[in-house]
Amino acid sequence: MNSINRRAESNPWLRSAIGAWEGFLMKSTLLAAFLALTATRSLLAADGPATQAPAIQMAPPAAGLPAYPAIVKKETPEEHAARLKWFREARFGMFIHWGVYAVPAGVWQGKPAGAEWIMNRAKITVAEYRPLASDFPATRYDPDAWAQLAVDAGVKYVVITAKHHDGFALFDSAYSDWNAAKTGAARRDLIAPLVKAVRARGLRFGAYYSQSQDWVNLGGGKGNTPPWDEVQKRGSFDDYLAKIALPQVREIMEKFHPDILWWDTEYSMTPERAKPFFDLAYSDPNLLINSRLGGGVLGDFRTSEQRIPSSAMLGRALEVNMTINDSWGYNLTDLHWKSARQLIRNLSDIASKDGNYLLNVGPTAEGEIPQPEVDRLLAIGRWLKTNGEAIYATEGGPFDAPLPWGRTTQKKRPDGGSTLYVHVWEWPGDGRILLPGVRQPALSGRLLARSGAVTSSLAPEGLIVTLPGAAPDPDASVVALEFAKPVEISNARPLLKDTGASGTLADPSRSPPAL
Ligand code: GLC
Repeated sequence: MNSINRRAESNPWLRSAIGAWEGFLMKSTLLAAFLALTATRSLLAADGPATQAPAIQMAPPAAGLPAYPAIVKKETPEEHAARLKWFREARFGMFIHWGVYAVPAGVWQGKPAGAEWIMNRAKITVAEYRPLASDFPATRYDPDAWAQLAVDAGVKYVVITAKHHDGFALFDSAYSDWNAAKTGAARRDLIAPLVKAVRARGLRFGAYYSQSQDWVNLGGGKGNTPPWDEVQKRGSFDDYLAKIALPQVREIMEKFHPDILWWDTEYSMTPERAKPFFDLAYSDPNLLINSRLGGGVLGDFRTSEQRIPSSAMLGRALEVNMTINDSWGYNLTDLHWKSARQLIRNLSDIASKDGNYLLNVGPTAEGEIPQPEVDRLLAIGRWLKTNGEAIYATEGGPFDAPLPWGRTTQKKRPDGGSTLYVHVWEWPGDGRILLPGVRQPALSGRLLARSGAVTSSLAPEGLIVTLPGAAPDPDASVVALEFAKPVEISNARPLLKDTGASGTLADPSRSPPAL
């Protein structure tokens, strides 16, 4: 089934059909639906006997949002693949939510009130919120230590909130003084040194920017959430977009040359409002954008927030972003930490669905990353030291559903063969696992963690793999099986359909496993 995915990604017919929609922005979505279905059918037909045609890439599905035809960057499939190559190979990134909301740290007037949404949840007025910046000193902020943590965790890119919904820019901006260099205790650009530290270690850099929701800058309060403060009713949303948001995105691009622009909350973005951002972002030929710009812009990869979808997606790169506890910003009341085991298995699960894992940390107002987050990131890094071969630069596994004992990823070999990485979460008592529907023998097998013979034999129901001894790693032990040809699964079901351009993947079918 992942061959279908890859074919869609590189199918000139499909991408040019989608590209053509851009010219017909306000035309009927029925036409788009017809084109998408036709394209999908031809893909599936080209892929051999299949499956029902899943619909793809239609207009935003979220409740109350108008439907817009899909807008994509005009480029050839080869250009598209080249632009996304590093991202697809990276598989693991670090998200950082840092801002003035770290000062109340989840508590307002003695009550828990969310983290980075605290201003909205506790209905804090602009006049009350602004002075919090004086308690945002960033005195213990060590960008080199953050970047080194990222390296030790095994991530390949770092995405930080350059400006979240409270409108506070962490970089020096000429378009609003509500930024870390000009207002409050930090009095310096906090993004610039991180970009330097991250790049010095060979990692990619991404900037999160809340384009349509800004609770402090004039006019930005009209973007999404209903205003709770009279001053948020002043100004015009379009002026805010033209005079603050767009110029600030330009500043970010000129100062930091990000590899990713990570938009957030698309609700008020019409195609007309999204276009200048789309044009600006893609004026950098290498830049990637996520699926949250709005106005029908598909972006280069689909984000899925806090949820792992049930399969890979047809023709779309995927990034699952997730918290380590339940909060994005620093929240001292939230001690609901996921275990290192769960995080490692999430990474394995997401990679098996051809996706990236963007895992969040929420530093304090002083600039410290909470120790439970550090500990868990380092545990993932240790696991990756042994098992990284089964994650980086792999593709999702060939199976159409999660397997009872774990997950799989795969890599093509230059000789036309392939390596199938079998991530064993639950090491069976009898040492035998079934790879259902596999019809070709494995040439050889090895454990990544230690030596020990891995043998296999074909049975009517698939390939039976016999594992040696006890599990080398209780979280996930990886076996690499070599095959003469890529593994195809008979009667695989279709991929998950992508229901639109809105930010959060509408697939509640599978949350991370409870461990
Ligand atoms: C949501 C939230 C935001 C968080 C983001 C991360 O859009 O509004 O607080 O930054 O998701 O995915």
